[in-house]
Amino acid sequence: MQDKNEKHKPISFRIHQPLGHDEDPSHTFCDPTQAQATTATLFFRQREIYSLLKKRIAPDWMNAHPHAPLCIWSAGCSSGQEAWGLAMVAADCYRAQKKYENFKVFGTDINRDRINEARAGVYPPNLRDEAFRPVLLHHARIHDDLATIKTELRPHVSFGVFDIRKCPNNHRFAYIVCNHVLQYYTHELQKQIVSNFLSVLEPGGLMYLEGLTPSIAGELPIKKFSSVKNVFERTDG
Ligand SMILES: C[S@@+](CC[C@H](N)C(=O)[O-])C[C@H]1O[C@@H](n2cnc3c(N)ncnc32)[C@H](O)[C@@H]1O
Repeated sequence: MQDKNEKHKPISFRIHQPLGHDEDPSHTFCDPTQAQATTATLFFRQREIYSLLKKRIAPDWMNAHPHAPLCIWSAGCSSGQEAWGLAMVAADCYRAQKKYENFKVFGTDINRDRINEARAGVYPPNLRDEAFRPVLLHHARIHDDLATIKTELRPHVSFGVFDIRKCPNNHRFAYIVCNHVLQYYTHELQKQIVSNFLSVLEPGGLMYLEGLTPSIAGELPIKKFSSVKNVFERTDG
């Protein structure tokens, strides 16, 4: 996932106090019908999302902030497999380092039915990438051909209904994942959504933004992070 020539420079995170943004009622939205109609998802859909967490974000965070929770946002999480998958990988990272599992994953979606499914945490045990099968089997009980998320993982994950076109206001995230969502939105709305993400991204934090129109990177204080596709960091500190 990283260029051979590229040196590992630790991500320098700083903790900020929660922001107090007000929602801006003047936002103008496109018709979101298609964006909301497409809710297909799977466990471990894009390997890079989880490799980045395991190899860079979690180790660097634990190093820099041994006592602060690592907060991750799965924005547009549909029925929650992405958020649970992030929590599984984060839990494994903390356990591998024999550290207290001080992390939290927030899964949000505009679709209330999908969020209710996410909270239930019971799925057909299908995944995109078989390399992650042992991870799923470790964190979910398989019974009657259904995978049920184990109780140990549940306190680390919260789900809520939230529209990413609005400004979040009460958390800071070291990692924001927005996969298979942005492509449904216009250029202007993508810009608005990524600006919203930037308002809650920890300095040094990373965003996985699949489907982002490339020119938007030139219009916002973000740039590509290393050679990993779809990963962006902020350029304004
Ligand atoms: C194709 S699914 C992607 C699920 C998951 N991220 C993945 O990659 O497997 C897209 C999800 O984005 C959600 N979505 C679309 N527009 C949204 C918005 N404005 N705010 C929050 N969620 C949104 C949809 O409801 C849908 O569940």
